Amino acid sequence: MKILVINGPNLNMLGIREPQIYGAQNFEALQKFIKDSADELGLSVSLFQSNHEGEIVDVIQSAYGVYDGIVINPAAYTHTSVAILDALKAVAIPTVEVHLSDINTREEFRKFSYVSMVAKKTICGLGFEGYKEALRYFSFEK
Ligand code: DQA
Repeated sequence: MKILVINGPNLNMLGIREPQIYGAQNFEALQKFIKDSADELGLSVSLFQSNHEGEIVDVIQSAYGVYDGIVINPAAYTHTSVAILDALKAVAIPTVEVHLSDINTREEFRKFSYVSMVAKKTICGLGFEGYKEALRYFSFEK
């Protein structure tokens, strides 16, 4: 199974960015954690991060016919992006949504997620472990 893992804006700032919310480990550590988790679960994984909405739409479109699953942390675009929702609907690739923090217990504006409308599952508040949980969803499908 080929899985594309997409991380949205500011996640490249992990370790520096609000460590009390997102933890002290940096983005490189997250990427290593995702790769190690995929290896353990017998999944093939590609990693993509962008701070730009259109680039995320482009990578979702180019996943069509290539990937069997998408794991996405759309970051701030979670709460604003109809374009990312539409791209996920267009390619119809099974998608699991991940958030490091628990978006349901933070500010009001974080409680709404466009991506949740299409996601098979949403995992929040588990930190790095949430990505492994998301990958596990696809390993059960093998
Ligand atoms: C986030 C939560 C979002 O509300 C926020 O904008 C992020 C990260 C998370 O992983 O907890 O950038 O998606």
